[in-house]
Amino acid sequence: MTGHVISEIANGVLTLRFNRPDKKNAILASMYADAAQALKTADADASVRVVVITGSGDSFSAGNDLKDFIENPPMGADAPVFRFMHGLAAFSKPVVAAVNGVAVGIGTTVLLHCDFAYAVPNAKFQLPFVNLALVPEFASSLLLARFLGPRRAAELLMLGEPFGAETALEFGLLNAIVPADQLEAAVRAKAAALAAKPPAALRATKALLNADRDEIAKRIMLEAKVFGERLQSAELKEAVTAFFEKRAPDFSKF
Ligand code: COA
Repeated sequence: MTGHVISEIANGVLTLRFNRPDKKNAILASMYADAAQALKTADADASVRVVVITGSGDSFSAGNDLKDFIENPPMGADAPVFRFMHGLAAFSKPVVAAVNGVAVGIGTTVLLHCDFAYAVPNAKFQLPFVNLALVPEFASSLLLARFLGPRRAAELLMLGEPFGAETALEFGLLNAIVPADQLEAAVRAKAAALAAKPPAALRATKALLNADRDEIAKRIMLEAKVFGERLQSAELKEAVTAFFEKRAPDFSKF
């Protein structure tokens, strides 16, 4: 573990905390690797009944660390991000997201694979893939359309605009909005309630709710292929260069 992911088990609940608050908890490949390992261990550990995913400081996660991502693009099914997201998508026990601030890119995508999500009132969400010359990932092109309907999914994925907690609640991406000073206690209470349920019945219920996992897995593969192609694009280079130069990207030449 690098210290950029804090993994703690208490009362049957594993809390996974992205811990790079000075970078808005942008996720490095090493963090995906740590989080993937923690999930794998937790799935096999009968004493872990529930997982909570959250972030340190004022952010949930600003998504992929763009520098790391460009220098070490995730290629192939064994890349840490794939191991983490596959582990999350296939996780057999309940997962609760505590969105304590900004949740961008994979920070929002993760929520589609959690069973419950609670957020603070000033949480901000965004799927900016198209702005970065990328495409949706980890079945978000399928799951968002399911959560929101095709029109609103197109809006989020083709315009890539940010939206707030009230909108996320209305879209069905959140169970509830909770004041910042109550989020941890509220999520702990939900996790405790889940941890007290009969574990096999809970796992079976989750499996039934996700009975179409094959379709999700197929979409993940399709998206990964297109995403991999986009990673080689000059459009992506321009988008990322512009981010670090703190200027608007210029796609007029493409
Ligand atoms: N990758 C790498 N560094 C990131 C990052 C990311 N995804 N998101 C934020 N950071 C860094 C910034 O570069 C900045 O570093 P610095 O202090 O060394 O300059 C620091 O985190 C704080 O970010 P800042 O942009 O100043 O904070 P903000 O509150 O104004 O905005 C965000 C927060 C998340 C809205 C904004 O940082 C952002 O849009 N980040 C990029 C999100 C993104 O495109 N993610 C990838 C999706 S695939």
